[in-house]
Amino acid sequence: MNAIKYLEFSADRVNKRLASWLASKPFVHPELRKAMLYSVGAGGKRLRPALMFASYEMFGGRAADILDAACAVEMIHTYSLVHDDLPAMDDDDLRRGKPTNHKVFGEALAILAGDGLLTDAFSLLLSGNKKIRPENRLKAAEILSFRAGAAGMVSGQAADLEAENFQAMKISRKKLPGLLNYIHRHKTADMIMASMEMGCALSGRFKCLPKISSFAEKVGLCFQAVDDILDVTADKKKLGKSGSDSKNKKLTFVSLYGLEKAKKMADKYAAEALEILDSVKCGDPVKKRALRELAVFSLRRDR
Ligand code: IPE
Ligand code: IPE
Ligand code: MG
Ligand code: MG
Ligand code: MG
Repeated sequence: MNAIKYLEFSADRVNKRLASWLASKPFVHPELRKAMLYSVGAGGKRLRPALMFASYEMFGGRAADILDAACAVEMIHTYSLVHDDLPAMDDDDLRRGKPTNHKVFGEALAILAGDGLLTDAFSLLLSGNKKIRPENRLKAAEILSFRAGAAGMVSGQAADLEAENFQAMKISRKKLPGLLNYIHRHKTADMIMASMEMGCALSGRFKCLPKISSFAEKVGLCFQAVDDILDVTADKKKLGKSGSDSKNKKLTFVSLYGLEKAKKMADKYAAEALEILDSVKCGDPVKKRALRELAVFSLRRDR
């Protein structure tokens, strides 16, 4: 299956499950429910669930058995976008082709919608996925909390904000590549790593985690390099967001290295990822192809 088909397959399942789970969850404040459903239902590529499915299938599982875990990752990713768009962070008006959550529901409810998505992700992960052994579910929850938490994605976001306006700050130029790598590694690669590591952990093949992890890290760095490039080059309508990096004076691949070098670096990360994947000996070599296709998609995408 090529990447586009795999993403469609993943989006179809995840969209239906997320909508029905959130719509039927009891005791949720009605306006909060609307705000959560609004961002979760606004589309999005659903790349992280697809990566989780592909990783799980490579280790012999059936994607349908980990649907709730895939939804959990997408809920955390969506919460991170809702908060990322807030005036206190990137202050964006457009996300997934629609007005951002705070533009529709106000800042307070957008913050709470993010809180709800984050916490409920763990509820879905731990109470669903009944066909998965409890110890594998627990390992997946440990991975997700670590990668999404203070030592992971959240620190990446903190560093991203701190580095705004880096050109006017007295940071030695020599330190900028390391800082940029830290930002991208955490704000983006961590959740991409979580997705594939969880696929592996849910299958119980814990020994394969380090290899999957290093492959996923490179895919994540490639993905964010391309995100920085598209922020400058993409058709905003297709991208579904307005591209605010230059307005916010962000430290990005493009602002640090220029467009041409940024493209070369994205290519390099993708090549390194594929090299690592080729060296992975565990798992089904035929099913491994989906992960390869999704890695190539991360580089070649236009949205
Ligand atoms: C955007 O992620 C935020 C980053 C981590 C770069 P995606 O480009 O995967 O956004 P959606 O989910 O498709 O909207
Ligand atoms: C956001 O990075 C990463 C997270 C939400 C964790 P960006 O700020 O570059 O994402 P976009 O470009 O707004 O989607
Ligand atoms: Mg941001
Ligand atoms: Mg942003
Ligand atoms: Mg961006």
